[in-house]
Amino acid sequence: MCGIVGAIAERNVLPILMEGLQRLEYRGYDSAGVAVRDVDGELKRFRSLGKVTELKKLVDSSDISGDLGIAHTRWATHGVPAERNAHPQMSGVRVAVVHNGIIENHSELRDRLTALGYSFTSETDTEVIAHLMADKLESGRALFDAVVETAAELKGAYALAAASPEDGDRIVVTREGSPLVIGLGERENFIASDVTALLPVTRKFIFLEDGDVAEVRRDGVSIYNSGGEEVRREIKESTLSNSSVDKGPYAHYMLKEIFEQPGVISETLEGRIHNGRLLEASFGHETAALLDKTRHVQIVACGTSYHAGMVARYWLEEIGIPCSVEVASEYRYRKVVVPEGSLLITISQSGETADTLAALRGSQDQGHIGTLCVCNVPESSLVRESDVCFMTRAGTEIGVASTKAFTTQLVALRLLLIALARRRGLASEQEEKMVNELHALPRQVEVVLQLGDKIEKMAQGFSDKQNALFLGRGAFYPVAMEGALKLKEISYIHAEAYPAGELKHGPLALVDASMPVVCALPDDPLLEKVLSNLQEVRARGGELFLFSDHKVNIGLDHYQNLTLSDIYPGTAPIVYTVPLQLLAYYVAVIKETDIDQPRNLAKSVTVE
Ligand code: M6R
Repeated sequence: MCGIVGAIAERNVLPILMEGLQRLEYRGYDSAGVAVRDVDGELKRFRSLGKVTELKKLVDSSDISGDLGIAHTRWATHGVPAERNAHPQMSGVRVAVVHNGIIENHSELRDRLTALGYSFTSETDTEVIAHLMADKLESGRALFDAVVETAAELKGAYALAAASPEDGDRIVVTREGSPLVIGLGERENFIASDVTALLPVTRKFIFLEDGDVAEVRRDGVSIYNSGGEEVRREIKESTLSNSSVDKGPYAHYMLKEIFEQPGVISETLEGRIHNGRLLEASFGHETAALLDKTRHVQIVACGTSYHAGMVARYWLEEIGIPCSVEVASEYRYRKVVVPEGSLLITISQSGETADTLAALRGSQDQGHIGTLCVCNVPESSLVRESDVCFMTRAGTEIGVASTKAFTTQLVALRLLLIALARRRGLASEQEEKMVNELHALPRQVEVVLQLGDKIEKMAQGFSDKQNALFLGRGAFYPVAMEGALKLKEISYIHAEAYPAGELKHGPLALVDASMPVVCALPDDPLLEKVLSNLQEVRARGGELFLFSDHKVNIGLDHYQNLTLSDIYPGTAPIVYTVPLQLLAYYVAVIKETDIDQPRNLAKSVTVE
């Protein structure tokens, strides 16, 4: 999963491309590159290892400008992060290519091209694309035809853009399984992996479909479908705010996004609850019809979104709806037995996660009654390909570590829970209680956010630690998993989550004075049991870091009361997630890691 951006204009496109790359860094940031057509009509390429800022230094120190260019920020798949593996990949000076995805038959193509005399300068699968296109240009094809014929030889998922000085005034793009949008301007047009890259220059977008090939010129765009017919694709106006991608006064996007949670939770509830009632009309008829038929729920997701699904399982089974939850990378390859009346729910912040999309696509003939996605990006593939959607309204999430997306997913799932519970005879007083609990959430999260300074102090206990354990029971087990994921992602401390009762079946052997143990202690029926589990930890010298919402006489190490008089059992997993996010954040600050762009990761995992 890499980021692609391109532009053709009557002005210098380099600043547009560099800004676009910076906005796409969430997709990968191992290395970056750009190729522009200079005044002599030649393609000039700059590439650098590391983030876009490194490339920018290189570009700024040159006096090159150009009216056509393509650029790329990379997340390594084939070939280590290195300048030689950065895109654009070129075949001599004939053609430059930027690519997002994986070409599965690249080694067979590489052998064939090597036999034809092409020599390779990188280990990437992308370089085969450049040489294949060059070969077709060599035999007299126009760039458009070279792209069409090359795409026909590729197996795998890709979005790619090509430019050639031999067929100068156009960028040719195609996609199969990876996202690509065209941005429309006045006598200038653009391409990118997503709309955020182009928000400073346009609001009008065309979303290409799989198999589309498009020729993007200064004065227009022509799109052809996989059958070679010219097609018109709808032009959509983006409502995304350009400022939503600014950091504001915060040191990191992650912190900004943690603090945005009260606001985005309110947004996610807006128009969906009123006067203690769920406004079911806001779901739409099709969703309501699906919920009427739902007898079982299958949730499929990855990472943080999977943890949201795991919390939802506890909620759904409490109202008598059988629910299974699975990570998409497993689900997609397994033979599944689908119970009668099963609704497939996919959860994804980006809506572009390759495994989740593949699970959705693979479900076509599995016998589900329908597919519903809980997603944060309206223009995403998941939204477009699901039968119905329930949008979270978290706004753009830039930090690789997901925070506000998770809590808004839980809010969305809670609303769906109420809708399903209604169909099982939910009493109106009970509905009112559930709705009011949701209504109280933004204020509760605000109170927890005020504990930042105290949690920052707690974080100091992790500065010299290599490992950490997170414990939870019931719906707080997935909350513990989410806390552990946050800590490992951004602080690089090895963190594992366990259901607290499982400790004595093995993990207790790891506990000694160097093992911090983090636990959320809600006031629920399992409290006493968790306290016993914690005593077992303490007896082995493990240091405890605890969060609770009432005055338990814990008398154990680092204890932070959430200072809320009422945390409701249903929404407590949402409230308790917030201190764990803050803890991970402050540990990472102490460790001086790259919080918004942790090593080896990318925000949107659009490859397998
Ligand atoms: O966009 P998605 O929600 O589908 O992404 C799923 C995971 O890749 C994502 O949650 C990942 O685990 C985050 N880095 C977690 O913070």
